[in-house]
Amino acid sequence: MEKVLSLCKRRGFIFQSSEIYGGLSNTWDYGPYGVELKNNLKRAWWKSVVYQRGDILGMDAAILMHPKVWEASGHLKNFNDPFVKCPACLLFFRLDKVWDEIWNSKWFVSLRETMMGDKDSLHMLRWAKTEGRKLSPNLSLVKEPEITLSFIGDLHQKFGGVEFDFKTYVGRIACSQAGIAQTPCPNCGNPLPEESMSANLMLATQFGPVKETAQTVFLRPETAQGMFVNFQNILDSRHPKLPFGLAQIGKAFRNEITPGNATFRTREFEQMEIEYFVRPLEADEKLSEWIAYRFDWYIALGMKKENLRQRPHGKEELAHYARACTDIEYNFPFGWSELEGIANRGDFDLKQHSEASGKELKYFDDAAKERFYPYIIEPSGGVDRAVLAFLSDAYFEEKVNPHTNCIKMEGETSIGVGVKDNLRVVLKLHKDLAPTKVAVLPLLRNRPEIVELARKIAADLKQSFIAAYDDTGAIGKLYRRQDEVGTLYCVTVDVQSLEDKQVTVRHRDTMLQERISVDKLKDYLAEKLV
Ligand code: GAP
Repeated sequence: MEKVLSLCKRRGFIFQSSEIYGGLSNTWDYGPYGVELKNNLKRAWWKSVVYQRGDILGMDAAILMHPKVWEASGHLKNFNDPFVKCPACLLFFRLDKVWDEIWNSKWFVSLRETMMGDKDSLHMLRWAKTEGRKLSPNLSLVKEPEITLSFIGDLHQKFGGVEFDFKTYVGRIACSQAGIAQTPCPNCGNPLPEESMSANLMLATQFGPVKETAQTVFLRPETAQGMFVNFQNILDSRHPKLPFGLAQIGKAFRNEITPGNATFRTREFEQMEIEYFVRPLEADEKLSEWIAYRFDWYIALGMKKENLRQRPHGKEELAHYARACTDIEYNFPFGWSELEGIANRGDFDLKQHSEASGKELKYFDDAAKERFYPYIIEPSGGVDRAVLAFLSDAYFEEKVNPHTNCIKMEGETSIGVGVKDNLRVVLKLHKDLAPTKVAVLPLLRNRPEIVELARKIAADLKQSFIAAYDDTGAIGKLYRRQDEVGTLYCVTVDVQSLEDKQVTVRHRDTMLQERISVDKLKDYLAEKLV
């Protein structure tokens, strides 16, 4: 993750917000390449769900809505996350995420690595007195190693295998002096309290310039409600027939208890949501169809299938409005986590808003002459999470043979004594997502005729593609720079180009090069990029 984030900062994809003032924690800005990637992603989504289907209409509702919307939707009452606060380090942890956080915590990762294989309690004791002291000073195993070890018994022998019960094990290394298992703090190892607290996630603001008369309103926590409350407007203005959907992309805000993992969980983020209205009897079938449709979208945009999975929710984790839900999860560098949720919201929302507003939001079926509340299937994805997932998926470090300037094959040696392989970092983003499609680079920046031709070619390409011109370094450096931002093709203008009117086109993923005549270049690129 650090490598991806470092590239993001170095090349201008993502910056910490308000960095010159020390940063506003867990808030991020998208730089020149980041905004292009994000816009390309949103365009690809819109194309797939609005333009390429005939059953979905677009919308763009306001972020601020009438406060009654949030009463009716149940968000004011139910949009809560239970959490615990560590009494030692004072950090907060979401109750439903605490075990994931322990599994990925620095101290547990270190302990797990130490105990890989059939290690005995001596190894554990050594860990407690060295790494443990630094990483989890408040863990019982660190504070009272001998007593704690006596409660562990020979569980440690199964530690390297898969069959041990993780929670039982961790409970014991965090146990009280009486040997009672406890949940340790993912940060410092101190036992967490058994009682949890609850926090509402709605972010409030004041609506109106004068304090005395201003009204408290909420920044929407999901874009969905803007579509539900416009249901009747859509029926009256566009007369769609079931099944049909509404699609919207926009900002959402939540007072998250534990934001983190870069742009994965933040308090301000962007969603891409579809509300798909169906007959109640076809809801299950449409839910399955949407899960498959959305899963395939990520793969069609180049995401590795092995990094994606579907996870149906258990009854206990369903949101207050949902009858069923399946998450599409991505294998992020910090573990499998939700990318998008596809839920069957039943008739909850239309019924709630009908009751609260007094306006009956039912659909009239002409053929059957009946009026009913449609069910809603909701594929709801995060733009920022998708950007982060695509960046992680596309990040590669490759060894390049300095002699051939090609990717080094397994077993291949670099020719020459003392010659080191070059390392190239490359973002292998799908062509529809890559911020820049083509870069034009003069081989010799001190030869005005070459520079002039290269600039002319770049200006021409810019009329058709997102193209860049760069002459600020030696060619090797320029290639690396373009690789790092995922540019698909580099066009190099050299001395020969002045005579034969041909340029070298280098392919990002293979690094293979071919000579193409300047007058055919546009058609050549169009064929590859469209
Ligand atoms: N309307 C349904 C809804 O909002 P959700 O599962 O709470 O469902 C949908 O959110 C998607 O929005 C998630 O799958 C995730 O991609 C994104 N998302 C939710 N909370 C987020 C946060 N705090 N930061 C970034 N993305 C978030």
